Amino acid sequence: MPEYQTHEHDVLVIGAGGAGLRAAIEASAAGVSVGLVCKSLLGKAHTVMAEGGIAAALANVDQRDEWKVHFADTMRGGQYLNNWRMAELHAKEAPDRVRELETWGALFDRTQDGRILQRNFGGHEYPRLAHVGDRTGLEMIRTLQDHGIHQGIEVYMECTIIELLKDGERVVGAFGYERERGRFKLFKARAVILATGGVGRAYRITSNSWEYTGDGHALAYHAGAELIDMEFVQFHPTGMVWPPGVQGILVTEGVRGEGGVLKNSEGRRFMFDDIPELYRHQTTDDPEEGWRYTQGDQDARRPPELLTRDHVARCIVREIKEGRGSPHGGVFLDISWIREKLPNAEEHIKKKLPSMYHQFTQLADIDITREPMEVGPTTHYVMGGIRVDAESQMSTVPGLFAAGECAAGLHGSNRLGGNSLSDLLVFGKRAGEYAASFAKENSQSKIDEQQVESATERALVPFENSSGENPFQVQADLQETMQEWMGIVRTETEMNKAVEELKKLKERSAKAKVIGNREYNTGWHTALDLNNLMTISEAIALAALERKESRGAHFREDYPQKSEKFANVNVIVRKGYNGTMQVKQAPLTPIRQDLKEIIEEMK
Ligand code: FUM
Repeated sequence: MPEYQTHEHDVLVIGAGGAGLRAAIEASAAGVSVGLVCKSLLGKAHTVMAEGGIAAALANVDQRDEWKVHFADTMRGGQYLNNWRMAELHAKEAPDRVRELETWGALFDRTQDGRILQRNFGGHEYPRLAHVGDRTGLEMIRTLQDHGIHQGIEVYMECTIIELLKDGERVVGAFGYERERGRFKLFKARAVILATGGVGRAYRITSNSWEYTGDGHALAYHAGAELIDMEFVQFHPTGMVWPPGVQGILVTEGVRGEGGVLKNSEGRRFMFDDIPELYRHQTTDDPEEGWRYTQGDQDARRPPELLTRDHVARCIVREIKEGRGSPHGGVFLDISWIREKLPNAEEHIKKKLPSMYHQFTQLADIDITREPMEVGPTTHYVMGGIRVDAESQMSTVPGLFAAGECAAGLHGSNRLGGNSLSDLLVFGKRAGEYAASFAKENSQSKIDEQQVESATERALVPFENSSGENPFQVQADLQETMQEWMGIVRTETEMNKAVEELKKLKERSAKAKVIGNREYNTGWHTALDLNNLMTISEAIALAALERKESRGAHFREDYPQKSEKFANVNVIVRKGYNGTMQVKQAPLTPIRQDLKEIIEEMK
């Protein structure tokens, strides 16, 4: 058996984006030893793609805001499939987590009187997103990294975990390899926190970079944990569409929060055409009123561009399908029009949206202060993930915790923009705290050498495959399959095609062949990532087939309405005893009466 290095920690955190860093900080502050594994270099995380802000009811811009409104907005956005206790904890704790971040050095944009500035975002009743221009996620990562690094957390960069190790029911460690030399690593741990982010690389058009192959989802699934809500994949309405090399890169919702409007090829603001019942009372059909709203007029109603992402993305798809798209297959997003309204518009845009300004001048030769952008939906986030306990973030497997995007429950069927950053602060902290307690209460368990040996053997299979294909080709075909058949608008026939195609792709991926040695072998890494992509793609497809209705981000042309039958149901995916994927429906826990009343009151 090849050699491996062994490391031991009380708590092992896998994933070093916002949730992983926040969890590691908390666990370390509780006095346990913490190892933090990142697949990439420290600081390179999808967290930075949450550009527009952190949602928290600080009430700095509109004093009417409070946790109850944030809670009700989150529940409405998720179409009431949310884990209501998580939504409550999130709304109550987010303001403290933001203020704490400030004390750790985060430099937010300020109001005139020096408080943290908040901006409008889709589905949030009041301006709620604490932000740093359009670089909020980046500032958050920088702050957490600076803070965490001084706490004695041991960081393992460019290290990929390929298997969780168990002693009976309990998770007791993890096994992986470091990318540079291809050497194996064994981590012994009393508790493990998964914070690996999302699954965006299962799709061809995505805002996610190469790391996001559903690793945590798949590791948890194979360790026996339950996944929920996997049918809900968020397609952010605005990604770049041109030039082809940058397709999918995020165009922050902050553009629309600052007054950007969506138009079709006829120059019409098509978002006025279809305003959902649930949001009609808050949404204006008067462009002037919409503009006043983005300028902070507290009596004005929001423009339809700030409806929830699922809805905006579908409206964009409709325009494109019906032939009213932009030249490169998107629609137009225009912030330059505010020149008519603000004398200092150019300066204002550059100040509030500096990354967007640079992104478009550098990558597309477009000056967004003068011309519209071309945008279209991009796979951005998955609401589904590891089922966790709301208080502790422990999964259904003892000793295994999860936080951030790879955990599920908070967002229900659709996440509101900005709720990801607050999610990972609130539940990252909780996961760190409870994992540390678990580690204190449970001794280090023994590692089963047999599990390590078989993990090693499986990892080396791609070198032994003599007649397989290039893993990059298999990955590209998988992404095309998911993009084509499991996208924004779904039908039973198409999803069945996806399932059939996934079966073939699974066989091809098992045979994927790599050449060379283990040192920085990206073909080998891709072959191993493919296992995770296959698992989560199958989970998405089977869960989506199970939910015979349209709700939030899951839209079926064959069942275009919400169904009472699925109103209180989570779709659960888990590994069956025979190794096949099992799908079942489970009822939601009935909502607590006081929270129900808050929702009624806010309606
Ligand atoms: O559009 C954005 O800035 C993304 C934010 C988010 O996903 O929360």
